Amino acid sequence: MSLVTQINKEKVPQHIAIIMDGNGRWAKKQGENRIYGHYEGVNSVRDVVAAAGEVGVKYITLYAFSTENWNRPKEEVDALMELLVSTITAETPQLNNKNVRLQAIGNLNSLPPACLQELNESIELTSKNTGLTLVLALSYSSKWELISAVKQIAADAKNGLVNIEDITEKNIEQYLCTKHIPDPELMIRTSGEHRISNFLLWQLAYAEFYFTDKLWPDFRKDDLYEAILNYQNRERRFGKTSDQLTQL
Ligand code: IPE
Ligand code: IPE
Ligand code: MG
Repeated sequence: MSLVTQINKEKVPQHIAIIMDGNGRWAKKQGENRIYGHYEGVNSVRDVVAAAGEVGVKYITLYAFSTENWNRPKEEVDALMELLVSTITAETPQLNNKNVRLQAIGNLNSLPPACLQELNESIELTSKNTGLTLVLALSYSSKWELISAVKQIAADAKNGLVNIEDITEKNIEQYLCTKHIPDPELMIRTSGEHRISNFLLWQLAYAEFYFTDKLWPDFRKDDLYEAILNYQNRERRFGKTSDQLTQL
């Protein structure tokens, strides 16, 4: 039986977050330079976005470039930014065909102007789509996001717009980049690394984590289905006991 048919459509995570890791190592294994791996990684993005849409996932957030990635060699950063622009331009018609809405989170103003312009155009062109929402995390890090949120809350408190005693979880969420996006139920990281690398620290508080040794350019449709199936076999207790859940 194919993997996709084994998925329980009633229990598909509505939001999957992915740390797409291992492009450089994948390229090195082929005797190529790291940039080649990033190019190949785009094919995995296309595949995974299609697969997510097909099984009814509502949101997919892809960690594409972290705040810390600015510290890579300039040639690699430049190549990644160029790849971003060319991919967004080339893929926008396909996103529209597939009813995918593009969004982005991160310190977007730190992106090169051409990149930001393409991104904003594509976000606008796909804004009416009602299927999957594809969120690109670009120049993103969780600590950057939390610092920005704390600064805005402090400013609002100073201006009398927020009452410090009234601050709640829901309230804080309104100051995050993800304010209109539900928290991910499933977080996938490829390439065998078991760390979170400054990704969605708040939003992943109760996510299920799935790690695979596959390098990102090798991660395709069936790998996503395998991760979803693995997720569906877990018991999410949210602090309760297993008995409490079965008594429902
Ligand atoms: C992930 O692959 C892509 C980005 C971080 C932009 P890497 O480039 O981190 O590849 P490895 O981990 O060095 O193999
Ligand atoms: C995390 O991958 C960031 C992205 C996938 C964009 P890295 O390859 O940058 O993470 P570390 O540095 O190995 O933790
Ligand atoms: Mg890496």
